[in-house]
Amino acid sequence: MAKKSKTAFICQNCATTHTQWQGKCEGCGEWNTIVEDNPLAGIGGGPGRAPKKGRVVPLASLDGEIEEAPRIISRVAELDRVTGGGFVRGSAVLLGGEPGIGKSTLLMQAAAALSRAGHNIVYVSGEEAVAQVRLRAKRLKANETQVLLAAETNVEDILTTLNDMEKRPDLVIIDSIQTMWTDSADSAPGTVTQVRQSAQALIRYAKSTGATVVMVGHVTKEGNIAGPRVVEHMVDAVIQFEGDGSHQYRILRALKNRFGPTDEIGVFEMMQSGLRQVANPSELFLGERADNAPGAAVFGGMEGTRPLLVEIQALVAPTSLGTPRRAVVGWDSARLSMIIAVLQAHCGVNLGQHDVYLNVAGGYRISEPAADLAVACALISSLAGLALPTDCVYFGEISLSGSIRPVPHAGQRIKEAEKLGFKSAVLPKGSSDVPKRNDESIFAAEKLVDLVVKIAGGKTLSYESDEK
Ligand code: TYD
Ligand code: MG
Repeated sequence: MAKKSKTAFICQNCATTHTQWQGKCEGCGEWNTIVEDNPLAGIGGGPGRAPKKGRVVPLASLDGEIEEAPRIISRVAELDRVTGGGFVRGSAVLLGGEPGIGKSTLLMQAAAALSRAGHNIVYVSGEEAVAQVRLRAKRLKANETQVLLAAETNVEDILTTLNDMEKRPDLVIIDSIQTMWTDSADSAPGTVTQVRQSAQALIRYAKSTGATVVMVGHVTKEGNIAGPRVVEHMVDAVIQFEGDGSHQYRILRALKNRFGPTDEIGVFEMMQSGLRQVANPSELFLGERADNAPGAAVFGGMEGTRPLLVEIQALVAPTSLGTPRRAVVGWDSARLSMIIAVLQAHCGVNLGQHDVYLNVAGGYRISEPAADLAVACALISSLAGLALPTDCVYFGEISLSGSIRPVPHAGQRIKEAEKLGFKSAVLPKGSSDVPKRNDESIFAAEKLVDLVVKIAGGKTLSYESDEK
């Protein structure tokens, strides 16, 4: 008697294995994701089954012709920068962002630009009726372009329409993937299974025809793209559109890109007539600067290949709580704790009795460790009650030993600052490609304690004595 093959019940969302079928997966908490499967099928063959003869696959050498991935360039420079020089043909891109941030606006403007450049663009809206999309297009002055429009949510219908077109589209925009549903899954639209199956069908279409598919994905409150994370793994690029409600600017960021860099950002400003590209973002983030306020330091940052100046604001105030507060907006709070510890251990600046608030101006988010120095200077300045020079930029990484470490692209950071009227810079000693200056405009710091002395002068920063 042949041995009965062993089957298991596997969650299709998180791959947890269960011994029997159940409605809810204990691994990820999703419902109706468990499917009976034979994980050992095909392994070892088994009695009575002849092994299938394989097909010979060609083996190639590492050296050889490389076919450059052909791209379609939107000529919206900020968008092309983030995609790595245009959308790659046959690729699938996921554009994430909170509702109302401007995803549809961005894609409509990109569609119009591409269409003007002679590309064949199809815009499928599952959220809005044709009339609504037309209204937006009119506002964006995109209504005279050749972009083809459909309001449809069934993936099979969309694919049949696309395959039926005389000229294959170069770019298909699906707004949004959460509204799509396919006949091959019987759960409701927006569920994990539907989103995944729909995405799969659309990606298959992209790969088989060479058209680029851009899918809009809504983001949950926690900042994740709703639906299974699997969709993020399935697509070639994940681009996030972010910004905060109280500001007009929006940042486009690549979180994953199989065909380009992930450290570039695109900056836009939301206007009455759509998104405007911001070629020089530093001006935007420095626009709201107050003169001569203690606790403000301008950080000379880099985003990918582009320098970006942004103001860091710190407020240090005596605490009334047992455990002082540390609140950070736009930076890593663990990094702030580190700077506070270094100030205490190596510079004799004790913030143990002070609340510390740190804010990056304009709602911008910094991820570079090069911001350490600007943060430290802002903290010292606020604690001492002395304003830093308004025409000075700061950058450098601080190590746990209290020394200041060089960061890449010092020359570029300084050049950007000079372009914006800054006259001096505080940077790590040993920075490479620093422009030569005869005056004292560049202060190369080696230890954080030297800077404390420079900023606070003779002022004592030990507050223990004040309390007596
Ligand atoms: P939208 O692209 O619909 O956002 P999403 O697709 O991400 O949900 O943009 C919504 C917001 O953008 C809305 O609050 C109005 C604003 N907006 C403008 O300020 N100017 C414009 O020209 C357009 C089209 C939208
Ligand atoms: Mg939308």
